[in-house]
Amino acid sequence: MNSPRVIVALDYASAEEATAFVARVTPPHCWLKLGLELYTAAGPMFVRRLKELGFRVFLDLKFHDIPNTVERACRQAATLGVDLLTVHCLGGRAMLEAARRGVGDTPARPRVIGVTLLTSLDARDTLEIGVSGDIASRTLALAELARSAGLDGVVCAPTEAQVLRSRLGPNFLLVTPGIRPAGDAVGDQRRVATPAQALASGADLLVIGRPVTQAADPSAALLSIEREIADVK
Ligand code: C5P
Repeated sequence: MNSPRVIVALDYASAEEATAFVARVTPPHCWLKLGLELYTAAGPMFVRRLKELGFRVFLDLKFHDIPNTVERACRQAATLGVDLLTVHCLGGRAMLEAARRGVGDTPARPRVIGVTLLTSLDARDTLEIGVSGDIASRTLALAELARSAGLDGVVCAPTEAQVLRSRLGPNFLLVTPGIRPAGDAVGDQRRVATPAQALASGADLLVIGRPVTQAADPSAALLSIEREIADVK
């Protein structure tokens, strides 16, 4: 089987709740993502447990600090054995280069991807924090900065994937949340696409939370997504 293209977001408050979900899926079918909530609750022990079970792990802690601190945090993430991690592009070039240095150069090193502008910000918010220009061109500029600083890719909305793919070439990882299988509840997401649409727009990996974690049968939900995307390159 090819490597999975779905990353399930483990948005749970405790290791116990997350473990109950993890028991219902297997490593060939999905990666698992820990964000701030679960990592704060369950910590590195839980990451190690997922790695022992054979899962690929995305540590989504969105590091943003001075270069030395981020480099050292990324080194710890590499020691933990995570496969993918996030840093904020707004930390600037020196911080991004430090993040990339921190994960080392072994073939198994974590891939480092940048968060451009949070999708929760609108034009008024960006102006208020001193980011001028339209959001799409700022996003592209930050993604270009990430690439030139040696990062492996960025997180982006599926609706941005096509432009980023065409501007940044085929070897830059695009990881997209905001995925909803046709007919699923959109919830609080705004710029959404189906799994097949996101991949066709150039996404490499799809972050999917509630459509899988809240499904009555999570493995069946994953299987149905896998079927939907089986024919997409
Ligand atoms: O449940 P849902 O599929 O909406 O979950 C999406 C996941 O992706 C959540 O863990 C959320 O924090 C994350 N995410 C996002 N938008 C971003 C970055 C991350 O929805 N821009």
